[in-house]
Amino acid sequence: MRIYIEDNYEKMSKKAALIVASQIILKPASVLGLATGTTPVGMYKALVEMYNEGEVDFSEVISFNLDEYYGLAKESPQSYYTYMHEQFFKHINLPKIQTHIPDGTTGDVVAECLGYEEKIRAAGGIDLQVLGIGGNGHVGFNEPNDKLNVLTHLVDLSEKTIRDNSRFFKSESDVPRQALSVGIATIMKARQIVLLASGKEKAEAIKEMTDGYVNTQIPASILQTHANVSLIIDRDAAALL
Ligand code: PGA
Repeated sequence: MRIYIEDNYEKMSKKAALIVASQIILKPASVLGLATGTTPVGMYKALVEMYNEGEVDFSEVISFNLDEYYGLAKESPQSYYTYMHEQFFKHINLPKIQTHIPDGTTGDVVAECLGYEEKIRAAGGIDLQVLGIGGNGHVGFNEPNDKLNVLTHLVDLSEKTIRDNSRFFKSESDVPRQALSVGIATIMKARQIVLLASGKEKAEAIKEMTDGYVNTQIPASILQTHANVSLIIDRDAAALL
C-alpha cells in the first residue's frame, strides 16, 4: 500500500485527479469505479478543469459507481445519480450510456445486483477504483459487520452512516435505511485502487485500515491485501499514523 500524505484537501484532490487522468491517458477506454460523498468533490472538480484544458478525454471511458440509496428516486437531490450528474458527468464528454449506477428504484433487487456484477465483468473489470472511507471504516456501503458481502447487494445502513449522511437530508429520519452497494470482492478485483480521506474524523479509520490486520469491523482493512492500492490522505486524516 502506498500512502501519500498531502498538505491539504486541494492537494489530495489534485493528486487523485492526476492518477485518474493518467489512467485514462494511458488507456482511453478505461473502466473506472467511482465514488460519491464529500471527499471526491475536489477530485471531480480538478478532473473537469483538466477536461476543459483539453488534457483528458472521457469519450471512451466506462464508469461504475459504488452504490446508491435504496428507495430514493433518481431525480432526488440526494441520490447518487443526481450527485454524479451535478459534480461530474454534466461537465465532461463521458456518454451517459457508458455510465452505470446501481438502480435504487429497482423492483427486483436480486436481478439488479446480479446484473450489475455482470455488466462490470462484460466491460472487462474495473481498471481503477476510486474510494472514500466512512468514519466507521466502510468502503462503498460495506458496513462493519461479522460477515462482509462479497458481491453487489442490498445493505442495511449502520446508525453511524445514517447519522453522518443526515447532513445532506432535511432530517435524520429522511435518510434511506438501505442502499445497494458493490461488494468487497467487486472492489478487490479492481486492478488499481485509490482511496481518498480528508479530515480528522477519518483519522481513526485510516489508522485501523493500515494496522497490519484484516478486520471485518473495519471493512477497508481488507485493502491491505490488495497489490495496488494508493492511499491519498491529508494531514488531518494521517494524524494517527
Ligand atoms: P464522505 O463519505 O466523503 O462524505 O466523508 C465517504 C464514505 O462514506 O465513503
